[in-house]
Amino acid sequence: MAATLEPNLSTLQTVELIDIPKISDPEGRGNLSVVEKNTLPFEVKRVYYLYDVPSDASRGGHAHKKLKQCLIAVSGSFDVVLHDGKDKKIIHLNKPNKGLIIPNGIWRELENFSSGSVCLALVSDVYEESDYIREFEEFKLFKRS
Ligand code: TYD
Repeated sequence: MAATLEPNLSTLQTVELIDIPKISDPEGRGNLSVVEKNTLPFEVKRVYYLYDVPSDASRGGHAHKKLKQCLIAVSGSFDVVLHDGKDKKIIHLNKPNKGLIIPNGIWRELENFSSGSVCLALVSDVYEESDYIREFEEFKLFKRS
């Protein structure tokens, strides 16, 4: 079905690590981070989270044709392995006030989850299986189309 896919030119340069505003309590009661209108470069239509992921498990392993995402390690840490069809990059997320913006057209795998870690995903659209590319070979065709 690759011939029917729209071309996608996102490269690893379009992946961004953004600061999420952090409000530290002056009396030492901890921190609060907030994601609101304009924090992210897209409107959030869905929120989901990964948790209880075994340290030897891998999540993701797909790309999206249109969906944009922001991943946040709200607890613990994990690695995000990114691929744009040409180059690969690994980003370690371990701060609740950092958001990894993954545009559409980027392959991602999540691995090395620390015990008790939680990956929060703020995403630009509702769940649609037809938006997924789950085969890396198909992804490479999508990038070349
Ligand atoms: P998936 O996105 O494939 O996660 P991963 O790539 O990390 O394994 O989702 C796993 C399952 O959950 C899959 O059957 C689809 C389902 N799912 C939903 O029903 N709604 C959602 O919003 C998401 C993200 C997944």
